[in-house]
Amino acid sequence: MFNLESIVRPNVLKMKPYSSARDEFKGTASIFIDANENNLGSLAGENYNRYPDPHQKQLKQLIAEIKGVKPSQIFLGNGSDEAIDLLFRMVCRPGVDSMLHLPPTYGMYEVSANLNEVQLEAVQLTPDFQVPVLELLRSIKETTKLIFICSPNNPTGNLIEPESIETILDNFDGLVVVDEAYIDFADAPSWTTRLDEFPNLVVLQTFSKAWGMAGLRLGLAFASEEIISLLDKIKPPYNINEATQQLAIQALSRTEALSDMIEEIVQERELLKQALPNLKPVLKVYPSDANFILVKVTDANGLYNYLLDKGIVVRNRSSLPGCEGCLRISVGTLEENQKLLQTIAAFETKDNRQ
Ligand SMILES: Cc1ncc(COP(=O)(O)O)c(C=O)c1O
Repeated sequence: MFNLESIVRPNVLKMKPYSSARDEFKGTASIFIDANENNLGSLAGENYNRYPDPHQKQLKQLIAEIKGVKPSQIFLGNGSDEAIDLLFRMVCRPGVDSMLHLPPTYGMYEVSANLNEVQLEAVQLTPDFQVPVLELLRSIKETTKLIFICSPNNPTGNLIEPESIETILDNFDGLVVVDEAYIDFADAPSWTTRLDEFPNLVVLQTFSKAWGMAGLRLGLAFASEEIISLLDKIKPPYNINEATQQLAIQALSRTEALSDMIEEIVQERELLKQALPNLKPVLKVYPSDANFILVKVTDANGLYNYLLDKGIVVRNRSSLPGCEGCLRISVGTLEENQKLLQTIAAFETKDNRQ
């Protein structure tokens, strides 16, 4: 039986969160001299001399409407990387507890585990990049507090079968974190629609991908009110800066433009998927529900360096177990994708001459 209190670190349960000036006074007033701000103004313009809303109320209200959840089910982080780190700090006792992840997958789970002195358990995805559920369940230890499942998975691009995730949620008494950074490009419902069924579910999303706001650093965690209030308790008080909050509020009114961008990226992805297998250096194009494609090629290091030489940077993933010989290619603009295809085709000719 999942019991949140029993998995949260005792010091986190016990501690009092920082109380900011804005927490201690909430009414209206004409003079604010309570937060050691610069009341003369800001060299950056706007209202930036003032600390931002630590609870991001307006932003959370708008996100709640779009995502169909309650504001109290939303945590906002300085990128979803911050939410990943805080999840470790919330439930994993350094030097005692452990987490499980499923490589090849997003590298920050491992980095955060190492930073927080949390033991890392890895269960390799199957050759078609799905979860070997029984093996995963057998690997759970008494100290396992977190399981990270990335869907669509980075760097492989595929969705993880929902039945597998459901079985894990039903059979694990720690937190199951489903990282949906790329869900906007997938033809599948978000796990946010199942929050009320699973008290141990945490869903991560981000404004860095489909929304095109990687530079602003805004990530989301969706979970039960109890989990969210613990994340809020341990976050740095002003983790989402004022510029990001304002720009995100503006962006949230542009959902039509968001849909258009997603549609164009998905269309370009499909064109790349069709064109890439016709090129000689390409051995396999993996299915993708994300804004990138994993491609197995004849000579990953050679092609990577050749593309670099031509001014095109892709991600060389060939050293990751399970991704041998693979490059990960983000979907670019139509022109960029055409240039990429032509350049790979030229490598083919060079390859043939040798
Ligand atoms: C699977 C996955 N999760 C999380 C992130 C981090 O996102 P953010 O920019 O919100 O920190 C990334 C970034 O590439 C990612 O691929």
